[in-house]
Amino acid sequence: MSGGPASARCPITVRPCAPHEVERLRELRARALAESPDAFRQSLADHERVSAAAWRTHFEVRAAAGDGALVAEACGVWVGFVIAIRNDDGTGRLGGMWVTPEARGRQVGRALVNAALAWLRAAEVRHVTVAVADGSVAARALLFTAGFEPTGARRELRPGNVVMAEELELELPPKSLRAPPPLACA
Ligand SMILES: CC(C)(COP(=O)(O)OP(=O)(O)OC[C@H]1O[C@@H](n2cnc3c(N)ncnc32)[C@H](O)[C@@H]1OP(=O)(O)O)[C@@H](O)C(=O)NCCC(=O)NCCS
Repeated sequence: MSGGPASARCPITVRPCAPHEVERLRELRARALAESPDAFRQSLADHERVSAAAWRTHFEVRAAAGDGALVAEACGVWVGFVIAIRNDDGTGRLGGMWVTPEARGRQVGRALVNAALAWLRAAEVRHVTVAVADGSVAARALLFTAGFEPTGARRELRPGNVVMAEELELELPPKSLRAPPPLACA
């Protein structure tokens, strides 16, 4: 199913991709790489070279390491995804964020970023980075509103590609820090 007008009135929910859904995620990622080739480090050709079995193994290994493959859903239709990556050194990274063109402008991207940051914070991650390709205006604006700032680091989006990517970073509050209780009125 693709994110067409039928899902336009549905509330958006973001949840982890379940192990039995990894093939569906593989298909959605292929669609993302075809639609936004200059937003991702991986090319569609490279993605298509990964077998279904290798994709499943990668998903299982990364899930065991603490990554969250989060999907946005509207009445059962998948309208976006993001990968919340927990690095071995305890820092985090956002990878592979994408929203279907039909669902854009409905706060799906914001919901994905919030869910990814909540996922990482729950895993005690404090420092999060993300690489944003030059030209990804919407993503850059979205990440800035979420509090990300440039680190100053820049690199090729992928080797041999003319597109450059900028690194952004964000410090998360500690997991133990709870929101203060509402002030009591006299
Ligand atoms: C970036 C992307 C995920 C945003 O998804 P979205 O669901 O349309 O974004 P949202 O509706 O949640 O927008 C949240 C905020 O992002 C910013 N934003 C979104 N689209 C924008 C646009 N076209 N131009 C400028 N700012 C934009 C705004 O600040 C917006 O807040 P507002 O609605 O209060 O103005 C989507 O455009 C996308 O998939 N792009 C292609 C892939 C990509 O660039 N991935 C990022 C890899 S790091």
